[in-house]
Amino acid sequence: MILVAIVLFPRISRAEADADHGKELFEKRCTGCHSLDQDKEGPHLRGVYGRQAGKVPGFTYSEALQSSAITWDDASLDKWLTNTDSLIADNDMAFRVVKPDERADIIRYLKAVSLK
Ligand code: HEC
Repeated sequence: MILVAIVLFPRISRAEADADHGKELFEKRCTGCHSLDQDKEGPHLRGVYGRQAGKVPGFTYSEALQSSAITWDDASLDKWLTNTDSLIADNDMAFRVVKPDERADIIRYLKAVSLK
């Protein structure tokens, strides 16, 4: 009965971001350049939530990101994933997540893996 309800009435409005969906999206979209625990083309992202931008030791950031005074939280990550250049001009990450719901889910996931 519950299953039927889920199939017939998909979520219309969302009260909350969904970290499980965020994990899926992260694995599809972000892991070409990032992993949680290893630096690749981008820095590792476990612990990024709540951290100051550009602070993974040993990772070579753009001058722009390195010298920004941003701390990664819901608002700054949302702006970053919407359009990295509008938050920090001349950064090195050429990637966007267009849908607000998807950004929220990814951010919820990053928060969950960072605050563990
Ligand atoms: C095409 C490669 C690429 C993809 C895809 C990509 N990134 Fe990045 N990301 C980078 C690079 C390179 C940097 C470092 C940017 C700089 O130094 O200016 C970065 C930096 C970041 C930072 C800042 C990290 C810090 O330590 O300050 C966050 C947060 C981030 N990426 C999140 C994501 C998320 C979430 C996704 C998936 C939705 C994603 N990125 C997809 C390449 C990528």
